Amino acid sequence: MALSNGCACKIGPSILNADLSNLASECQRFMDCGSDYMHLDVMDGHFVPNLTLGHPVVKCLRPKLPGVFFEMHMMVADPEKWVEPMADAGGDMYSFHLEAAEDPGRCIRKIKEAGMKVGLAVNPPTSVQGVLPFMDMVDLVLIMTVNPGFGGQKFMGECLSKVQFLRDKYRSMDIEVDGGVGPSTIQQCAEAGANVIVSGSAVINSDNPRETISYMRHIVDEALQKASLER
Ligand code: DX5
Ligand code: ZN
Repeated sequence: MALSNGCACKIGPSILNADLSNLASECQRFMDCGSDYMHLDVMDGHFVPNLTLGHPVVKCLRPKLPGVFFEMHMMVADPEKWVEPMADAGGDMYSFHLEAAEDPGRCIRKIKEAGMKVGLAVNPPTSVQGVLPFMDMVDLVLIMTVNPGFGGQKFMGECLSKVQFLRDKYRSMDIEVDGGVGPSTIQQCAEAGANVIVSGSAVINSDNPRETISYMRHIVDEALQKASLER
């Protein structure tokens, strides 16, 4: 599975609020329910006020889930520091925050040299203009729709103008949204042009995760189809 194959819908559950004592089986459960990839949230207590997991956990997870695409959402200060350990642990995509990188271009090159795909993330207060110089170097842009640090926060719809702005300029770019995304907010995300969808608590707390994932996919597919007809 690759994330950057044009502009198809991809749904990746965030496991932040899952039962972390059973991480491998939780990931497997969501993959069996129709997910395309897993979104693994890495927090270091510096860039965000919370701690989650690091490369030693990813390394243990990798052999339990062969073939599952791992997007590492690196909510860390100094993102360059963990590129090699994450590649070695089996990360497939390394999504780092523009706000945290001393030299984003150098970080991107390092991620590619380590054999991973590159995601570039921006927080709600950060202008979308900041990602423009790097658009031809990255595989995906991640527009945060909450301030990162915790699952289950309220969706910030105002961030979608950034998605719309990028989608108008880059028709086939992978544009991901993360934070408060679920059945009640997916329509807005899809209409703005997001095609890569992170969903944490909405999927984890759903009585029927398969149905929740398939509903979100349906909404995104419909919007993508409409956009391609309008082109
Ligand atoms: C927020 C994380 C998100 C979050 C998503 O800091 O990056 O991935 O866990 O969870 P929900 O969908 O519950 O906001
Ligand atoms: Zn995330």
